[in-house]
Amino acid sequence: MYRIKSKINTQSDSFQNNKKQFEGLLNEYRDKLKMVQDGSSAKAIEKHKSRGKLLARERINLLVDTNTPFLELSTLAAYGSYDNQFPSAGIITGIGVIQGKDCIIIANDATVKGGTYIKETIRKHIRAQEIAMENHLACIYMVDSGGVFLPEQAKVFPDRFDFGRFFYNQARMSAAGIPQISIVMGSCTAGGAYVPAMSDETIIVKEQGTIFIGGPPLVKAATGEEVSAEELGGADVHTSISGTADHFAEDDRHAISICRNIFESIEYHDKQNLETKEIEEPFYDPQELYGLAPVDLKKPIDVREIIARIVDGSRFQEFKERYAPTIVTGFAKIIGYPVGIIGNNGVLFSETALKGAHFVELCTARKIPIIFLQNITGFIVGKEYERKGIARDGAKFVHAVANANVPKFTVVFGGSFGAGNYAMAGRAYDPRLLLMWPNSKISVMGGEQASDVLIQVKMDQLKARGQEMAQEDIDQLKKSILEKYEYEGSAYYSTSRLWDDGIIDPVDTRKVLALGIAMTLNKKWEDTKNGIFRM
Ligand code: COA
Repeated sequence: MYRIKSKINTQSDSFQNNKKQFEGLLNEYRDKLKMVQDGSSAKAIEKHKSRGKLLARERINLLVDTNTPFLELSTLAAYGSYDNQFPSAGIITGIGVIQGKDCIIIANDATVKGGTYIKETIRKHIRAQEIAMENHLACIYMVDSGGVFLPEQAKVFPDRFDFGRFFYNQARMSAAGIPQISIVMGSCTAGGAYVPAMSDETIIVKEQGTIFIGGPPLVKAATGEEVSAEELGGADVHTSISGTADHFAEDDRHAISICRNIFESIEYHDKQNLETKEIEEPFYDPQELYGLAPVDLKKPIDVREIIARIVDGSRFQEFKERYAPTIVTGFAKIIGYPVGIIGNNGVLFSETALKGAHFVELCTARKIPIIFLQNITGFIVGKEYERKGIARDGAKFVHAVANANVPKFTVVFGGSFGAGNYAMAGRAYDPRLLLMWPNSKISVMGGEQASDVLIQVKMDQLKARGQEMAQEDIDQLKKSILEKYEYEGSAYYSTSRLWDDGIIDPVDTRKVLALGIAMTLNKKWEDTKNGIFRM
């Protein structure tokens, strides 16, 4: 495989300026991460610890194998909402390794409003379960939760992908042979009681864990019976009388070691084989991505320069290099794993879409995962292109991406706008992971275009009535739309709402993608079958 020859002068003013600006964004990103990771009030942490409990991230660190990475998902969920009262949406989720097996870990953070669930907590829990289902990963629930955050009940209780979906997913996964293990380390009240009850095996911590359908106050109100939480549903009751839990633990550490022991007898069968090669570091330093990541989306960047700093040896076997240059396609290795890469180098034309669809077919036929590197303003518009069938050809690309049954991964390194988001495996196309860089933007179109469209619509309306739009009103409308798009298009707005699986430092892209590919090997990939391509 040939090495990409970088044309970037890392000493140039434009590179150095971009780097400086990007490092500013990176510092902002790290500050936000720190803010949510240290986000609980000192009082809540003190209360939690005084009960002999470990914090959620400490519990996870003890659960996973030492010196293995934990890929935390959507750390900034709920960021910027609810007055930042729900750091990480009160739940930590991610992919970790236990006794050599990739697993999904879902841990309530009881220091955040008693570990209760708002809309984003639910989405995060369900997203983690989806990843488990797609990749056949055992689930460990570290339960410490007061259930639904009651003031928000209408947003979390009744719908298809609300609270009830947790237990449906547990039943379906258990039936599919995906182990479901609960460690009850605190409260599991009302609906929450079903997390341990629906698990294959459940551990409960003495004088700490409780499981009940109705807590003591509710029992008193309903029946007049006075009972303590421990008597109603503590570890002793559930391991010796009700049988709702299986293992009695003295404390958090003991519970975690029981869980690790359970994994000694868990095996994953039916794995996917993927031939790996020797690992080579990129020839071009990944730190140089800071000078290249498009801070100003108007400035074009050759995606090959990005690829050169992500793939092994900066080597890239380009496909159709001379044809349809606004999309770059080719094969490479990431930490030894073979991958197909599709990267944007401009607007999508008919021939670009055809090249993309052809390349997706190559990857699915050869069973090679596809990495989509998104920096896309959308499909080309105009009379000439509509007549040539841009919608018809674009549909072929979208069709191929939708049906591709090899693992897809999407990294938004610049803009993600319009139908380009769909063709390039946006969230709706089920990439196994979707990751954003801190500079990236996502919206139906750019703010400039949206304001131009809306001003044009308004002007046409007024013209039909024989009126005109005053310049002052045009300026005002433009300003308000630009501000709205700037706010709603930011990576933080996206990640807060779980439109992605997290924002990452560009330097970590290669590592995160390799972890993602490794996780997909726990289940055989299905064959790809396409439907009707509109010719
Ligand atoms: N909805 C909304 N807020 C809740 C809540 C719920 N279900 N459960 C707890 N909270 C809030 C508390 O108001 C408190 O908020 P604050 O920090 O702003 O004061 C915070 O979470 C911590 O609660 P607190 O009771 O002080 O903590 P604790 O560790 O002593 O107890 C629980 C935690 C979860 C065991 C206890 O709060 C409880 O039993 N909650 C009710 C659980 C329930 O009945 N849920 C039914 C939902 S379906």
